[in-house]
Amino acid sequence: MDGADTSEFTMPPRAYAGGEYKRDDEGTFLQCWSPIMLSEELVAGKIYGQDYLGTRVIVYRDPTGQPVVQSAYCPHMGADLGCGGELTDGAVRCPYHHWKFAADGKCVEIPEETTIPGAAKLYNYPAAERWGFVWVFNGEKPLYDLPEMPNIAEEDLIYRAARRGKRPIEGWIGSSNIVDFLHLKTVHGVPDPFPTKVEFTDYLLTVRQESPNRIADTRLHGCTWLTAHMQFSDGTERFFMAGGLQVAAGWSDSFFLVAMRKSQAEELGPEGTEEEFKKRIAYIHKLYSEDEPILYSMRFRGYRKSALIRADRYMGEFLRYHDSYPRAKPFDV
Ligand code: FES
Ligand SMILES: [Fe+2]
Repeated sequence: MDGADTSEFTMPPRAYAGGEYKRDDEGTFLQCWSPIMLSEELVAGKIYGQDYLGTRVIVYRDPTGQPVVQSAYCPHMGADLGCGGELTDGAVRCPYHHWKFAADGKCVEIPEETTIPGAAKLYNYPAAERWGFVWVFNGEKPLYDLPEMPNIAEEDLIYRAARRGKRPIEGWIGSSNIVDFLHLKTVHGVPDPFPTKVEFTDYLLTVRQESPNRIADTRLHGCTWLTAHMQFSDGTERFFMAGGLQVAAGWSDSFFLVAMRKSQAEELGPEGTEEEFKKRIAYIHKLYSEDEPILYSMRFRGYRKSALIRADRYMGEFLRYHDSYPRAKPFDV
């Protein structure tokens, strides 16, 4: 597993960036797909407890290997199924009084009882596995499909999924970087950051940048997940994705992936490919570490409070877009 170990972070002693929106404090979160674990972390037969949407969920594989994400607190008396819950015959057994729950959330067995109360169920979040990640959606049904890479099909790519780790910042603030074109120049040193086209649709934001040096197609799915394809004038390309899970108000858990064309990997050979992936992963960590000292300490201002200028036009549009983006509460608060 690649990535900085950021688990030692504690909540900073200040209002967190984004706190002025109050939405997450009130317990509603963006309805989006996000990775919750790396696929390789989700070992069959085990139950993993995770923080999500200010509450807890469990993640495990059903008997067919499909990932399942369910509310973690037992409907009986509230034991956390992620702490001592066990998988027996494909069902989750609560550590406290041994009630058992199936992968669809239904309670299937209660010791010393023949009638199962209607309320005895876990809530399932839509879950999926792709791109080396286990994904979860905040809502009853996904509002849009899992993200694709721009301009290329998955079967033409090889990729490595990785984790940046927990960040004391809401994921959408990090992702808003996609339309903060000026910061690409001032923070990351991109010489020609301004877009030729920006399009906002219900769940997708599409950006194209064209200059003599490069053509970049970047997209933001569900306000939080970035996908990008860049083509440089020397013929090289970059493919990557990045974004964060909504862990709790003011917190995210960030994941990314780097990819290359299969044809390029064949040219490089197995060792050359791994070397190239290492470089690309290091490059994404470098981008994160350029942003983080600023994002972690800033007091992010809302649409009406920021002194936006012409160059911030799309940032302003994004803030309004984010403001009206659908939100939902977790199932079991
Ligand atoms: S708290 Fe889970 S079975 Fe009692
Ligand atoms: Fe950035």
